[in-house]
Amino acid sequence: MPDPRQLLASDLDGTLIGDRPALERFIEALSTRRKTLWLAYVTGRTTPSALELLAQAGLPRPDFLITSLGGHILREAGQSPDVAWHRRLQPGWSTERVRATTAFFDDLVDQPAISQDPFKCSYYLAPPRAPEVLARLKRTFRRHRISARCVYSSDRDLDIVPDRSGKAEAVRHLVRHLGLEAHDVLTCGDSGNDLDMLTAGYLAAVPGNAKSELNGVPGLYRSRERFADGVQEALRHYGWW
Ligand code: GLC
Ligand code: MG
Repeated sequence: MPDPRQLLASDLDGTLIGDRPALERFIEALSTRRKTLWLAYVTGRTTPSALELLAQAGLPRPDFLITSLGGHILREAGQSPDVAWHRRLQPGWSTERVRATTAFFDDLVDQPAISQDPFKCSYYLAPPRAPEVLARLKRTFRRHRISARCVYSSDRDLDIVPDRSGKAEAVRHLVRHLGLEAHDVLTCGDSGNDLDMLTAGYLAAVPGNAKSELNGVPGLYRSRERFADGVQEALRHYGWW
């Protein structure tokens, strides 16, 4: 059987995950088509946290797992990450320097240890202060020549990742590696941390339950169905299923 020519790159929390019966229907529909497409899960979770979720939810094993918002690209869950990719993320990045900077920001509350890793520093940040805090953080990183970008989502989560990281960059890397055309890639996500991937020039869809922070983003298919049913609706919309 030749390699698939299409890639489904989907977020987990709030997209494939969130409604158990919908997920069961997705798993069932996928089982007969599993060999016809590459499957990548693209998540803000760290690798251990993502693997825990995959086991818990009984999700099908993906061909690729992208974790920490693009920090790690794994060929099959459980394999070791692509180290060449890590080398690309490294210039100008240092978790120590990021943490030394954020220590001066009282509004930032550390997320738990399982959400932290060498390519992602994660915090909670309350919405009213977010615009001001984000602007000040970005200025500080620029001044100290720290190559970091800030991704704020769900009115709560702030991820600081290397400048060259992010879901879109990691998916682009994968698409190049697989030699796929842009119209053979479908990205799905429900919140602000998916925005770069959803606007990266591929087919893109959001489920009916997507967060309002994705309202008004052009070029997306908006499923009426929610969670994994919404992903299936998008696959039908684009004529893949
Ligand atoms: C996941 C991660 C969390 C991150 C959030 C948004 O919930 O566990 O660390 O902040 O996604 O990317
Ligand atoms: Mg999500």
